Amino acid sequence: MTARVGIIVVAAGSGTRLGAGAPKGFALLRGTTILEHALDGVFGSTEPAQVVVVAPQSHLAEAREIAGRAAGVAAASISVVAGGDTRQRSVAAGLAALGESVEVVLVHDAARALTPSAVIDRVVAAVLGSSAAASGPGTGTDSDTGVSGSGVIPCLPVTDTIKRVRDDSAQATGQATRTVEATVDRSDLVHVQTPQGFPRAALDAAYAAAEHEYTDDAALFAAAGHSVEVVPGDALSFKITTPWDLRRAEAVLGEGHSAEIRTGVGMDVHQYDAAEPLWLGGLYWPDEVGLSGHSDGDAMCHAICDALLSAAGLGDIGGRFGTDDTRFAGAHGEVFIAETVSLVAGAGFTVGNVSVQLIAKHPRLGARRTELESHLSALVGAPVSVAATTTDGLGFTGRGEGVAVIATALVRADR
Ligand code: CTP
Ligand code: MG
Repeated sequence: MTARVGIIVVAAGSGTRLGAGAPKGFALLRGTTILEHALDGVFGSTEPAQVVVVAPQSHLAEAREIAGRAAGVAAASISVVAGGDTRQRSVAAGLAALGESVEVVLVHDAARALTPSAVIDRVVAAVLGSSAAASGPGTGTDSDTGVSGSGVIPCLPVTDTIKRVRDDSAQATGQATRTVEATVDRSDLVHVQTPQGFPRAALDAAYAAAEHEYTDDAALFAAAGHSVEVVPGDALSFKITTPWDLRRAEAVLGEGHSAEIRTGVGMDVHQYDAAEPLWLGGLYWPDEVGLSGHSDGDAMCHAICDALLSAAGLGDIGGRFGTDDTRFAGAHGEVFIAETVSLVAGAGFTVGNVSVQLIAKHPRLGARRTELESHLSALVGAPVSVAATTTDGLGFTGRGEGVAVIATALVRADR
């Protein structure tokens, strides 16, 4: 390993505010993990670099797979290490994994998934430029002592008006209120992004000396007495923090090409069987008449599977899950949904939503509809809404012989 630039990509956070059910770096953005998007930007930069991905202990194997795919022919230059319980500890773990040849370190949030490669190049060039200046004219970089000089952070101007407020407690009502104290001059304020770049030896020393948590690497570096310069950031480097940020990133990615959207429909009918327990929508319904079938008779799950399979052009449940496949004999509906969702993802589609209608005299969804919708949404990994109707006494559902379920699904091609 002879790279002079090292890039640490931290993805070891839990992504609490995003709430995606997986650590943020492993949440999907248009069918590809946030971490892989970030690494694509990193590998698009012109400077050959050693890349260290810092991932949660629980996701090291997945991170290695993603890293290998993103690195492609540069696979030898990437490694994955486990992070710590704060971002600062995660960065420290990344620093410890850098090779000896590294003189310039960039620290980058995987959460800034759409950061353009040009920003990375800009930060590297500025750190190298400042180190050349620090070593004096004509001397260039002194590789014996390592690169010295300033840290470099990409920033954007603050465009909103900024005010300082103070807490007041209104004595009459006892309610806490906040009152404007001043309008802050924003001309010398900036929004700070990543990657932040530093001379390696100085950053190592600053990390070793740090005695508490800093809000970013530049603050830790400055606390050790070093200067930090600013280069222009990029609006695309915004950090994905909340679900709203994720939607913004999806919208940005969708601009260049209109992702193919497809719909699918599925239907299933099962006969009532008073000797069976009722499983419907992946839930057990005590005190309800059950349904007969080769599996557990869960017509709702089966209709959802058919809708998803048809949307993705993958045929239908009968063709996919043969009655001779022992994995599915007597299986609950959620087994079929899990298998279907992975087939759909494997075919390159992300599920947009699923809509289901139960046509039956019973059970009444009533009080359990919200529970049913959230259970199915968790199984499918996308919003599932459920409605129910009867047929005015007409047909087999009206006579109370069985249930029918119709489902529609919407899927989007990932690329
Ligand atoms: N990070 C990390 N190790 C931690 C905490 C954060 O590597 N212990 C990383 C995150 O993975 C992310 C970046 O630091 O790429 C910025 O942190 P943030 O946006 O706060 O991400 P999370 O901590 O994952 O999210 P949240 O605070 O909502 O839980
Ligand atoms: Mg955090």
